[in-house]
Amino acid sequence: MKISDLKAFKQSGEKITCLTAYDASFSRLFDACGIDIILVGDSLGNVIQGGENTLGVTMKDMIYHTQSVAKGIQDALLIADMPYQSYESADQTLANAQRLIDAGAQMVKFEGGQEHKDSFEILQANNIPVCGHLGLQPQSVIEMSGYKVQGKDEASANRIIDDALALEALGVDVLVLECVPAELAKKVSQAISIPTIGIGAGVDCDGQVLVSYDMLGINTGHMPKFVKNFLKGNSDIQGAVNAFIGAVKNQTFPGDEHSY
Ligand code: KIV
Repeated sequence: MKISDLKAFKQSGEKITCLTAYDASFSRLFDACGIDIILVGDSLGNVIQGGENTLGVTMKDMIYHTQSVAKGIQDALLIADMPYQSYESADQTLANAQRLIDAGAQMVKFEGGQEHKDSFEILQANNIPVCGHLGLQPQSVIEMSGYKVQGKDEASANRIIDDALALEALGVDVLVLECVPAELAKKVSQAISIPTIGIGAGVDCDGQVLVSYDMLGINTGHMPKFVKNFLKGNSDIQGAVNAFIGAVKNQTFPGDEHSY
C-alpha cells in the first residue's frame, strides 16, 4: 500500500481500513486479511504494558514493536507512533522519526497541531511521511482532563478545523481524528484533500482505525462507546478482521451507536 493509493481511495470514496498491531503474528494475520494500514500505536502502553495511559511508552518500546510488526507485513502501509516527549524540538523529532523509519515504519504519527510546525516542516524537508492526530490526544490526557470527546463547542471545533488545514499545508499525508462529533469529522474530511482516519469520529471519515485488542474483545477494561467487538458472531480472529474490513468498506461501521 502506497500513500498515493490512500489518496486515490479518498478520491474514489473507497474507505481505508486500519488496525493497530504490536507484534509479527498479528500484523501477518491482518496483512493477509487485506488491511490497508497497520499502526504500531503507543496504545501499546495500555494493552501490552498495562499502563493507565500512554505516557510511559519510550522510543525503545516503539522501535522494538515496530521491528516486530514490520516482519509480518507484505502489503499494508506501516505507521509507527512517536511516543510522549519524543518530538519536543525539530531536531529531536527528525532523529526519532528516522529511528522508527529504520525500524521498518513507512510513516510516523504524532499528536497535536500547529504548535508542532517546526517538527512537521523538518520531516517534510527530509521526506519522512507523517500522519497527524487531532481531536482527543491521549498523550495530553492530563491537560485534556481525561478521555473526553473534543470539538463539542464552536471554538474548539474551529481550532480542530484550523489545525487540520494547517497540517495539510505543512505536508501531512494522513490525519487521524479521535473522539470528535461525527458532524465535525465530516466537515474536516470535506475541507482537506488528505485522507482522514477516524476513531470515534463517525462514518464520514475517509477511513477507520480501531485498537485491535479492543475490536477482538481482549481488552476487558472500560470500553469507549466507539468500540465494537468484531469477534462476537465470528468464530476466529480472521473472521473478526474480515468483518471489520467489510463493515468499514461498506460503511456500516461506525453506525450511530458507535459515534458521537
Ligand atoms: O495509539 C493508538 O493506538 C492510536 C490509535 C487509537 C489511533 O493512536
